[in-house]
Amino acid sequence: MKNIVVLTGAGISAESGINTFRDSGGLWEGHDVMEVASPEGWRKNPQLVLDFYNMRRKDALKAEPNDAHKALVKLSTYFHVEIITQNVDDLHERAGSENILHLHGKLFESRSTLNPRHIYPIEGWELNLGDKCPRGSQLRPNIVWFGEAVPMMEPAAALAAKADIFIVIGTSLQVYPAASLIDYVGADTEVIVIDPNLPAVKKHPLLTLIAEKASTGALRIVDELIEKYK
Ligand code: APR
Repeated sequence: MKNIVVLTGAGISAESGINTFRDSGGLWEGHDVMEVASPEGWRKNPQLVLDFYNMRRKDALKAEPNDAHKALVKLSTYFHVEIITQNVDDLHERAGSENILHLHGKLFESRSTLNPRHIYPIEGWELNLGDKCPRGSQLRPNIVWFGEAVPMMEPAAALAAKADIFIVIGTSLQVYPAASLIDYVGADTEVIVIDPNLPAVKKHPLLTLIAEKASTGALRIVDELIEKYK
């Protein structure tokens, strides 16, 4: 059975109504990203950071998985599929996918500000100042912020290295180390990139570029792969 690894970014959730980062003029929902998504921003104004992610959680709760998330579920009935997502939303999970690696953390988790290994689920949308880990420290969103290490990068790179087919959907490939995952795929791996505004991808012997929205592009590619390899 073919081993398919899918790298997803904000573009796969765009048609579910969740805004991407870089399509809105450098601001993220009206904020400078460093104010709401960096350790410095957190030190300066934790209330703003918590409010920001509370809003993102509200948005995510209103959103539903779209045809692109669902197409990847269909893909997994024919192939071994691993999803590496840069997204912090839970739309892949809610569509029914398994084997999902969240490179940049999860919106519906909090973690201790003292020990990153102490992680807790967030029920609903709110995380507030005064919400504490049972060991006493203030909780923060379990998100990988700018300037922070990406602990899941190593397992993600190992997955990319083993892919027979590597599909990239809806990412500008501007943020590292995530963008370098494509460098780990083998020369004999098929690489397929789906994005209406295709990102720059280095030359690869088996590269297919599809300038389409995630929903239609993913459905088409999934049906083509099933037809080709079933
Ligand atoms: N279908 C597919 N792709 C789309 C769609 C769509 N309907 N709409 C927009 N896109 C594409 C854009 O063309 C762009 O290439 O989605 C991509 C979104 O790019 P970014 O906003 O840069 O999002 P992403 O690449 O996921 O960002 C990476 O940056 O701020 C951080 O940590 C955050 O995980 C995030 C990381």
